[in-house]
Amino acid sequence: NKPLKLGVAGLGTVGAGVLSLLRDNASLITARAGRSFEVVAVSARDRTRDRGVDLSGLRWHEDAVALAADPEVEVVVELMGGSEGPARQLVEAALAAGKPVVTANKALLATHGGALAKLAEAKGVALAYEAAVAGGIPAIKALREGLAGNRISRVAGILNGTCNYILTEMRLKGLPFAEVLAEAQRLGYAEADPAFDIEGVDAAHKLAILAALAFGQQVDLAALHIEGITNISALDIALAGELGYRIKLLGIASREEGGVTARVHPCMVPVSSPVASVDGVFNAVLAEGDAVGRIVLQGRGAGAGPTASAVVADLVDIARGCQSPVWGVGTEALAPSTPVPMERH
Ligand code: HSE
Repeated sequence: NKPLKLGVAGLGTVGAGVLSLLRDNASLITARAGRSFEVVAVSARDRTRDRGVDLSGLRWHEDAVALAADPEVEVVVELMGGSEGPARQLVEAALAAGKPVVTANKALLATHGGALAKLAEAKGVALAYEAAVAGGIPAIKALREGLAGNRISRVAGILNGTCNYILTEMRLKGLPFAEVLAEAQRLGYAEADPAFDIEGVDAAHKLAILAALAFGQQVDLAALHIEGITNISALDIALAGELGYRIKLLGIASREEGGVTARVHPCMVPVSSPVASVDGVFNAVLAEGDAVGRIVLQGRGAGAGPTASAVVADLVDIARGCQSPVWGVGTEALAPSTPVPMERH
């Protein structure tokens, strides 16, 4: 079998991680995919930065969108981020050109996922985004394929690794918020603009994607209650601990009588809860289905390795010609999501 030729847009933490993983595990990935992968073209801002991966011989496109038109590129891997601008243009152009897309871009999917899925389905090409939610946890597959027989009543979890890392380090080491955030940035966990992490927006993006899959309904981000962790102090964490609780930033979407509600905010969770001991950069994804009951998945939610793991899983699916529905398939008419007034816990 001939190699599948990839064009990669964005060579930050995740992009470099994908190239490294494809190189390091090449033979077993090839065996699982049934063919090898070859990165033929890339696009990134800085051509000179040492990313620890060999980029010699690759074609560079100044303009990421040009990857979609590059005749050699068969699959576009979008790892730039951002809900608008070049990331959106590239994904739209690639799908319109009939090229499968793998993306880790939660902001793009939370905002335009429904429309992009329609475009992908109209063109009969894959739009795969396992890496967009909860890093290395195969949450998309679990919800879309694993629970396909269930009516889902609730999806929830710890969906931002940076926030969970900050809350954990503040609790265990007594470090100041700003210092831990800087460390999360250094480790490649945080968003380019870390306000997305600490203000809860990144978790809301991921929750919107999970809710779309679980309930077949696009969540109106503007209607979501979103509160981050910027108001959480060391004292809050210590007092919660004395009472037998941990403070966790949770995203929760549930089916209620009037429709689907979704919200992101810090919660006090009892230490006996399955999410209480999910610490550091780990995420947790909970889902409740009528047949299966509750499932809880946990694993690293951010960083080069875990995110690359999810991107490569999508590439293997595409190489094998797996046909999954792109987006949530709704079976019932549900009322639009409504904001839920939340008391501070
Ligand atoms: N900034 C995100 C996080 C990266 O910390 O979870 C993974 O989506």
